[in-house]
Amino acid sequence: MSDPRPVLAGVMGWPIGHSRSPRLFDHWFGRLGLPGRYVPLRVAEADFAEVYRALPRAGFRGVNVTVPHKLAALALADQVSDTARRIGAANMIRFDPDQGIVADNTDAYGFAQNLRQSAPDWRAAAGPALVLGAGGAARAVLDALLAEGAPQIRLANRTPAAAEGLAAEFGPRVQPVAWDRRAEAAAGCATLVNATSLGMAGGAALEMPLDDAPRTALVTDIVYTPLLTPLLTAAKARGMPVVDGLGMLLHQARPAFVAWFGIDPPVDAALRAACLAP
Ligand code: ATR
Repeated sequence: MSDPRPVLAGVMGWPIGHSRSPRLFDHWFGRLGLPGRYVPLRVAEADFAEVYRALPRAGFRGVNVTVPHKLAALALADQVSDTARRIGAANMIRFDPDQGIVADNTDAYGFAQNLRQSAPDWRAAAGPALVLGAGGAARAVLDALLAEGAPQIRLANRTPAAAEGLAAEFGPRVQPVAWDRRAEAAAGCATLVNATSLGMAGGAALEMPLDDAPRTALVTDIVYTPLLTPLLTAAKARGMPVVDGLGMLLHQARPAFVAWFGIDPPVDAALRAACLAP
């Protein structure tokens, strides 16, 4: 007789209530006829290690990990992928019966794949990129843009030391620029990325004048609430190609689904609609 128990996965974070990942996975479970459950796990930092190590014994195939656990998830893993090591954080964990806790990072893949799907003509190699932010998301964006062949990445961050640290770590193609010179730094760029949390609904706004940016430059934002951030709205109004950040969330989930359940799920308009439903 087949095992009637549902397959289990989830997301560990604090807070976790805003996560759209459960909807995303529920959509795939329903569509693919898989008896799965994707559970939001609200776990405090002090409890992380204990809960993380216990989950395989509770039947979990794997988990996504979000703020503030991405570093701890990496540090406590038995095996770490090269990508996760380069980015310095894990967002996707697979519990393997033989190998133990296997940590990976699918954010860089999600970022690049979103651009490939939504802007098929975009080429990172076409010119320099300007990236705003030097946090965890920015690290994944840098990794992706370097892999895609960006000849130079201008990195602007409110706290200059963080941008300088990333430049030292990611190599000479990453050039720190002063936060208050970010508008001029867009000159000649092929790609502009907001990888800060600015522009999120209810939060501080991002001031980013686009007058110096080429009209052909692709503009994308890791913020996806709202879907059209003020940056994307301004870029659109100038006739620039824009890609919203929801696609990064959708695409980063795909390799997780493959790793946990062995099925390659579709990333398409129906998945997007399921995530956007009120
Ligand atoms: P994430 O994992 O989403 O990248 P994070 O690591 O906390 O989150 O990084 C947040 C990014 O947004 C940082 O680059 C941060 O700049 P600092 O390094 O100076 O903190 C940026 N950020 C957040 N609030 C900001 C603000 N009000 N002005 C400018 N940058 C801001």
